Amino acid sequence: NLVQSAQFSWEAPSNIALVKYWGKIDNELDFQGNKASQIPANPSISFTLNNCKTITSLSFEQKSSTEDFSFDFYFEGQKKEDFKPKIQKFFERIEVFCPYLKNYHITIESENTFPHSSGIASSASGMAALAMNVMSLEKALNPEMSDDYFFKKASFLARLGSGSACRSVKGEVVIWGHHKDTSDSSNLYGIDFVESHEKFKNFQDTILLVDKGEKQVSSTVGHNLMYNHPFANQRFVQAQDNLTAIKEILKNGDVDSFIKLVESEALTLHAMMMTSMPYFILMKPNTLEIINKIWKFRTETAIPVCFTLDAGANVHVLYPENVKEKVLQFIQNELVAYCQNGQYICDQIGNGANQL
Ligand code: PMV
Repeated sequence: NLVQSAQFSWEAPSNIALVKYWGKIDNELDFQGNKASQIPANPSISFTLNNCKTITSLSFEQKSSTEDFSFDFYFEGQKKEDFKPKIQKFFERIEVFCPYLKNYHITIESENTFPHSSGIASSASGMAALAMNVMSLEKALNPEMSDDYFFKKASFLARLGSGSACRSVKGEVVIWGHHKDTSDSSNLYGIDFVESHEKFKNFQDTILLVDKGEKQVSSTVGHNLMYNHPFANQRFVQAQDNLTAIKEILKNGDVDSFIKLVESEALTLHAMMMTSMPYFILMKPNTLEIINKIWKFRTETAIPVCFTLDAGANVHVLYPENVKEKVLQFIQNELVAYCQNGQYICDQIGNGANQL
């Protein structure tokens, strides 16, 4: 083989969905004709974040035996065995698309820029950072590779680690999943949406850490509960329509419509959880306190600020950059009291993964 040893480092950000991915389909084939995993039942769109990132280095050392796939994993300098199964599964899923990996022993070193058990999922940023590094090796083996192929395949591989991770490769706004009104959309990887109005440039996301504990129900289990869910089909149709609507909203800079659509999507996501069988609730009392405070503040001040939620109790507060000072003051005065240990993270729209 041409490359005996190599080392790469990438940082990849988290992302926050505006139209949510919730539910998978299990009867689709990938472009090699194998049964595909992690295919979304509906398309989604997200803001790529800027500050919540995973930084990951991979060292590849050629080995003589290609029988077993082998790697070591270090998190913040410590050897970590409990993260290994997820990474093992990622490598098992991507092996058929990256047969060269078997020739190497891989050492992975990873860290996050956000507090470890903050309830912020590191799977999107973590899997995206891993996928970028794998693609750097592939590029070293095949220097002719185009940038377009590099990023598409990186997103494809990241998806196999964690579905929403495929939206963390690029910025600032990414669509993933087949959408009736987006001709180049795909279930296999994310594509960037570049037509956002100036009003959505530098959009802010302040993440209020309401509950930093381990989630009671993982997103894998939650997605699976959408099979046989009584409202699943209507939800998938709604997501298609909401994506059509939000693309227009982002193009036109219609912040009021953005607020309505985004908040409705967040509550619909949690409504799906509450109407699954078994049912579950990931919001906490403080999640609702914060939502009500945001509504009151918006009514009283007419400042365009809204919330969204992912699969947990934390609240993402979204607002344009030009009201940042006022909103941060409101957060400090009225919302921090509902955060665990008063913790929150200031983030904003970002550009996707970077090689270091
Ligand atoms: O990527 P997963 O399997 O962890 O699912 C993420 C699901 C949501 O965060 C709730 C929604 C989304 O589109 O990111």
